Amino acid sequence: MTRILTGIQSTNVPHLGNILGAILPAIELSKKENTESLLFIADFHALTSIKNPALIKESTMAVAAAWLAFGLDSTKTIFYRQSKVPQVSELTWYLNCYTPFPMLANAHSFKDKGERLSDVNVGLFTYPVLMAADILLYDVHKVPVGKDQMQHLEITADIAKSFNHKVGTDVFVIPEAIVDDRVMLVPGIDGQKMSKSYNNFINIFLPEKELKKIVMSIVTDSKGLEESKDPSTDTIFKIFKLLGNENQTEELRKNYIKGGFGYGHAKNALLELILDNYKEQRINYNKLMTNTSALEKELAIGETKASKIANEKLKQVRQVLGFN
Ligand code: ADP
Ligand code: TRP
Repeated sequence: MTRILTGIQSTNVPHLGNILGAILPAIELSKKENTESLLFIADFHALTSIKNPALIKESTMAVAAAWLAFGLDSTKTIFYRQSKVPQVSELTWYLNCYTPFPMLANAHSFKDKGERLSDVNVGLFTYPVLMAADILLYDVHKVPVGKDQMQHLEITADIAKSFNHKVGTDVFVIPEAIVDDRVMLVPGIDGQKMSKSYNNFINIFLPEKELKKIVMSIVTDSKGLEESKDPSTDTIFKIFKLLGNENQTEELRKNYIKGGFGYGHAKNALLELILDNYKEQRINYNKLMTNTSALEKELAIGETKASKIANEKLKQVRQVLGFN
């Protein structure tokens, strides 16, 4: 039995990058034979950047609704909120005491945020340790993530190996990252990596009018309608390619090259593709968001199961550390 786990921060509604880079690959993996999957909402992690309780709550529900709308089966997957299994913070403390300072000082999640140390909270600094605890608490073998999370997985494996070595017994399973090479990085509307932090994301659950506005704001070069365009450098095309089938992508590629096809046309084609591909998911998501008590119920089932596994692991860890 292989155990897989992944988490997504509840900092906003999951965007197309989160869906293609994390949600869909994880759901696909969770359906594999001999696999037990844990999928969770990293709401403790969200607190490193969001200090608004209403937004934390709303985003947590939005993330839950997005996972379910994309086909997560909560009877087969252990689906939970990180904050509802607070055992993870106890493990974080133990791991903190086994993590060398420079390892965290070199983490991108810390290095890339804020120019001044006074702007960085300690939660952000120890973010990778909480992430390691998320994983090590559950004896996880595989962690599907986007490429940008690779460093966190390396840190997790390093912490686990060094902890096992120091206590002289294999308390923790050493996890492995799984990165889906087909997806890599989904670009945002400005061509950079799509991210909540850059505010360049596409929220596919928006009403059609608002979604259209976002798609229409994708940045392009200034080539005119009649000119031939280069699909390989254009953001609209790059996003379209990730969503369209071979024929649809080929047709768009030809239109770009032959000219007489403007970026406005390409944006309309992308909008239609999004609406078409995600018709059901958009309906389901919006239904779930109007019935959050049903969402809470689904989550509570997973939280009971996750808590049981967490308690067993913590018992083992306390024992080797002398806290039994
Ligand atoms: P954000 O950068 O928007 O804050 P998160 O850091 O919460 O997103 O990422 C959640 C998951 O989605 C991670 O596994 C991450 O690798 C994946 N992900 C985020 N943005 C992208 C993207 N643009 N392309 C592919 N995967 C992404
Ligand atoms: N740090 C991850 C991200 O921003 C979210 C996350 C938290 C996570 N804990 C995790 C992902 C454990 C995988 C496993 O994307």
